[in-house]
Amino acid sequence: MKKIFAAEAEITGASSGKEALAWLSWHEADLVLLDLQMPGMDGFEVLRKMKQQRRLADIPVIILTGTIESELEAEGFLAGATDFVRKPIIPSAIRQRVSRVLRYEYLQDNLAKEVRRQTNLAEERLATTVRIFREMVLALAKTIDAKDKYTHGHSERVAEYSRCLARVDGASEEEQEEIYTMGLLHDIGKVGIPEAIINKPARLTDEEYKVIQSHTVIGSDILHLIKAAPDLFQGARYHHERYDGKGYPDGLVGDAIPKTARIIAVADAYDAMTSNRSYRGILPQTTVRKEIEKGSGSQFDPRYASIMLRLIDEDTAYRMCETGMTEDGKSD
Ligand SMILES: [Fe+2]
Repeated sequence: MKKIFAAEAEITGASSGKEALAWLSWHEADLVLLDLQMPGMDGFEVLRKMKQQRRLADIPVIILTGTIESELEAEGFLAGATDFVRKPIIPSAIRQRVSRVLRYEYLQDNLAKEVRRQTNLAEERLATTVRIFREMVLALAKTIDAKDKYTHGHSERVAEYSRCLARVDGASEEEQEEIYTMGLLHDIGKVGIPEAIINKPARLTDEEYKVIQSHTVIGSDILHLIKAAPDLFQGARYHHERYDGKGYPDGLVGDAIPKTARIIAVADAYDAMTSNRSYRGILPQTTVRKEIEKGSGSQFDPRYASIMLRLIDEDTAYRMCETGMTEDGKSD
């Protein structure tokens, strides 16, 4: 063998299967030429032992045999042999077989590397797209809040409370993320409402109230433009619907209102009461609790009102309010 491959490769011989395995466990090999008849362990046993070891399992093995019976060949392939060569060895034939196997292994290895590279690239691109989407949504939320001088950080808090309600309700991570995004964008329609109306300190006229109400439909129309997220409009369109059907813009009743919007409605009302307004400060927690309780079944879905009441009861230090929230929208 050494003579046959002298010019192309470095060959190491072993006189038994045991010796071959011992050598392989300490050295790197590109290929193994394995004789079936050896003292002690036969070639098949060596092959099986190689396949059991992670480091050796991928080394291609060509079996050298005096006779190639189909049963033996099948057993060899089952055990993981790459090819068979009949003895006596013909130098040109074995050279060709070896180079073919090595070339195949090289291509396979390169293909696996290329697949890995492309997969990593696709994952990186997806992560970047997701990050850009999140940052754009956050930027939009801040744009909306900047327009209304009395509701600084409102969208982020509503998003955070909505996610929290969904989490306690048993929503998956994906659903929580979706409702968080909807919460951030629930008031996006306010971009289409004149600031003079949004920030009017006096009582609104009926006409002005109608204009304010139209932020639900404007927001829904804007978010319908994002075709990749077809449900995203739900929070914007339905967050002023009431469980008893007396809300707007569509007057939907009970479960006809999407679950996401029923959750956001509770979070929205909760934040309105627990943040400062031009005409009042943050309401006392007991008042907020009473209002949520009072609205359960009429304004709010009782399921989410009751989760909100639980969250209020757990919040003994009353941190879940405008002044208790940190910059990133989380409560301290
Ligand atoms: Fe709103």
